Amino acid sequence: MSPSPKPLLATLQGQKQPIPPVWLMRQAGRYLPEYRALRAEKGGFLALVNDSEASAEVTLQPIRRFGMDGAILFSDILVVPMALGQDLWFETGEGPRLAPVVQARAALEGLEAAPGALEPVYETVRRVVAALPSGTTFLGFAGSPWTVATYMIAGQGSREQSEARRLAYRDPVLMRDLIDRIETCTIDYLLGQIAAGVEAVQLFDSWSGSLSPVQFEQWVIAPTARIIAALKAKAPQVPVIGFPKGAGGKLPAYARETGVDAVGVDETVDPAWAHVSLPAGLPVQGNLDPLALIAGGVVLDEAVDRILAAFTDRPHVFNLGHGIQQDTPIAHVEQLLARVRGER
Ligand code: CP3
Repeated sequence: MSPSPKPLLATLQGQKQPIPPVWLMRQAGRYLPEYRALRAEKGGFLALVNDSEASAEVTLQPIRRFGMDGAILFSDILVVPMALGQDLWFETGEGPRLAPVVQARAALEGLEAAPGALEPVYETVRRVVAALPSGTTFLGFAGSPWTVATYMIAGQGSREQSEARRLAYRDPVLMRDLIDRIETCTIDYLLGQIAAGVEAVQLFDSWSGSLSPVQFEQWVIAPTARIIAALKAKAPQVPVIGFPKGAGGKLPAYARETGVDAVGVDETVDPAWAHVSLPAGLPVQGNLDPLALIAGGVVLDEAVDRILAAFTDRPHVFNLGHGIQQDTPIAHVEQLLARVRGER
């Protein structure tokens, strides 16, 4: 297969670019006034997600404003539990809520993917494809089963994912059943996004960091490997980025054992260590501290330069180590892009 002319897609295919392509996790969101205006008009975040025309518009906002190399589908990882039949809502100023919480067999048995539940997302994808600039790579995504399960089990974000970790020890059979249901839905969901037109996908495993190495093998590496094998069987040309946030010293095992085409690295990882510890030639994505982006100035320039220097000898996608925060100045995003692109 000849490499894509799109810099981000080519990088994910293993072709190092003279200037690393850039996109930012959560690049469509509250730090943008045009996002806040559209969310207010639609009446809230979930209303936005369920409206394909608005979601397509939000996906394109950071592309228009900054010329990012990647557009990430605007949706949320929690639409998978919603499709499985759990009620999802957002408590203003707090975050997601899911009901019923899955702590016992009875709550689990009802969870089956409703046909067509994710159709609005595929419609968003088709609308974005029709409007995307030719050099921009379109990324789909899903949460990894472990991270999605932590929300399904606690009914909300939780400290140290304690409820999910306790359940995994107390009843590993129930846990495996839950993970399997999420996994099956996630495979269908990602294949649906691919059929609708995304060119690469990212698996967000935001809470993989709280697991012990043995539990990490069981609940992060194994399901991720099964998802990637299923995707590769149907869509071998589509690169998969795995982002096991907080994995730290478990990153090399994750990179070797899951079959990911690229690995996302969070801001707590030393990029020089990541470069020597990850398989040679494997594309990496990351890993600027979102708070260095907020700080701006010399701090930001130096942090960008350190990351660029660490990854000069492998395919590198410049990104943050986690999502952009809502109080990030837009001028600092412009500074970051100029620095990566060698314009300042
Ligand atoms: O990256 C993007 O621009 C694409 C869209 C995207 C969103 N969420 C939109 C969103 C993506 C890729 C996600 C992933 C996601 N969602 C994760 C994994 C990455 C991470 O951040 O760790 C997780 C854990 C979620 C679940 C979720 N969604 C939480 C915990 C929250 C509340 C916290 C918060 O930041 O408000 C959300 C809401 C959410 N998802 C917002 C956005 C833009 C903010 C909603 C708003 O406009 O008020």
